[in-house]
Amino acid sequence: MDAYQTSIYTAILIASIIIGAIIVYFVMSMIRQQRRNQELYKSKISAEVNTLEKERARMASDLHDEMGPILSSVKLKMNCLDITSAEDQAQLEKINEHIDTIILRMREISNDLMPTTFLRKGLVAAIEESIANNDFKSDLQIRFTHSDIPELGREKAIHLYRIIQELIHNTVKHARATTLSLELSVKNNKIVLTSADNGIGFNYSNRVNESKGFGLRSLLSRTEIMNGEMYVDNRRGKGMEYVFEIPLETFKKS
Ligand SMILES: Nc1ncnc2c1ncn2[C@@H]1O[C@H](COP(=O)(O)OP(=O)(O)O)[C@@H](O)[C@H]1O
Ligand SMILES: [Mg+2]
Repeated sequence: MDAYQTSIYTAILIASIIIGAIIVYFVMSMIRQQRRNQELYKSKISAEVNTLEKERARMASDLHDEMGPILSSVKLKMNCLDITSAEDQAQLEKINEHIDTIILRMREISNDLMPTTFLRKGLVAAIEESIANNDFKSDLQIRFTHSDIPELGREKAIHLYRIIQELIHNTVKHARATTLSLELSVKNNKIVLTSADNGIGFNYSNRVNESKGFGLRSLLSRTEIMNGEMYVDNRRGKGMEYVFEIPLETFKKS
């Protein structure tokens, strides 16, 4: 190889190294940008969902703590009226019934917004209560088992509660299932939630991209807020299985 060839090869080598370095630099910055976008997206979703939960908690306590007593005192005052005619008495009884219905509905709405059992006794008790109060109007049998679950920070545990509610509602509404098994356990420093129904199943990735898939999307965004992982398995006509793994660390910070 003469000197001329050597210098050509050297030039080609140097040019390739420079081009290679530029490509690597661009790929790296694209990956970094993508990660940054993902982080931004995650914190935006997290802020939105947390605001939503705070609003729900505020509305629940306003309804429960302020409206409830006002209605009870209206009822009390009405019953102190001096009523003589049977007609007025009948009217009063009807009004009483209406007020009772309003108080009951208000309690239900307030409990839906933020379950008092969740606030007072924590996640497991709230799940048990919502299954026991089963007003899902279906024949679905729900089996909930759990191992020893440590006390979880309320602000993050609410996401697990909402995920379970959505899984139950979806199974009732769409799965045509007769059983739903929910299990909450602790493995390798993670809270593991598994859910399996024996219904018709569905293609998760197709469905989540449809505009109406808000509930399905919320399963994933709430999992991401808790820094967890979600695995979905459509068991070919035998129903759906979900596994959620959330680091215990997540619950210590809240
Ligand atoms: N457990 C399930 N079994 C069968 N289909 C389901 C199940 N969960 C969800 N789906 C399907 O996924 C769709 C989107 O669910 P979701 O985002 O929760 O919206 P919504 O419950 O408001 O319809 C449902 O309309 C249904 O077709
Ligand atoms: Mg839904």
